Amino acid sequence: MSEFVRLEVKDGVGTIWLERPKMNALNAQMQGELGEIAREADARDDIAAVVVYGGERVFAAGADVKEMATLTYAEMVSRAHGIQAFTRELAAIGKPTISAITGFALGGGCEVALATDVRFAADNAKLGQPEILLGIIPGAGGTQRLSRLIGPAKAKDIIFTGRFVNAEEALAIGLVDQLHPADEVYAKAVEWASQFVGGPALALRAAKGAVDRGLEVDLQTGLEIERAEFTGLFATDDRTAGMTSFVENGPGKATFT
Ligand code: CAA
Repeated sequence: MSEFVRLEVKDGVGTIWLERPKMNALNAQMQGELGEIAREADARDDIAAVVVYGGERVFAAGADVKEMATLTYAEMVSRAHGIQAFTRELAAIGKPTISAITGFALGGGCEVALATDVRFAADNAKLGQPEILLGIIPGAGGTQRLSRLIGPAKAKDIIFTGRFVNAEEALAIGLVDQLHPADEVYAKAVEWASQFVGGPALALRAAKGAVDRGLEVDLQTGLEIERAEFTGLFATDDRTAGMTSFVENGPGKATFT
């Protein structure tokens, strides 16, 4: 039973709630719970898409610094895999995922948002990777996912300085995709996620896998990944339903299983 992370499912959309007072600081327990709930969201057939949300006030202020403050090097060596695991599990959800960001999304909190496909932010959002100010660097994927998302120069500026990026700048540099008032950002994210309810789940999984795996390899290998995913979909009922419906009724009218 999770204490700090909750999965709520409504009308085909799963919301992963971050719920650890005061700032959703991600201690080791919460990191483990987040990874476990991400796996559950991936596996459940009643979830078509996932929203990650920290509530109206704050998304997450990062890993729990108080918990980490006294860890030795040797202790961190054995924990570091776990620190990357929760964002890896989140990124591995084979369904569309979106973060609804209010207030601070810092350090591990920003890295949670980076592990989803899309980010909607409240106009009061502040994102950043302030680990450098603690004498460390991002450890939950930030150096890799941030630079892939916004490019190495902007990522380095943010990681080297540890500065906070406000909502307008985050939108301008592609760190977030849409801005909304704080009390609307969750509903807007749910609306985005709802588009995929009743959609072709295997094709969505294949599309996400092809884009994400493709970003990790050279172009030729990426094209091979795409080809394998593309041809594989010809074995699915959704492909039959989608194409038959197009031929008989025109575009966009297919019902998928
Ligand atoms: N870990 C533990 N406790 C935290 C925390 C964190 N990351 N962030 C905030 N808190 C706690 C504060 O210690 C404070 O607790 P008390 O009330 O018991 O003193 C409470 O939350 C409220 O925080 P503030 O009083 O500081 O509130 P503020 O509004 O003045 O500032 C803030 C908010 C800007 C988020 C500030 O707290 C802050 O800078 N937090 C740290 C952010 C940070 O460095 N994150 C990176 C963590 S390292 C990491 O994430 C590594 C990784 O890659 C996985």
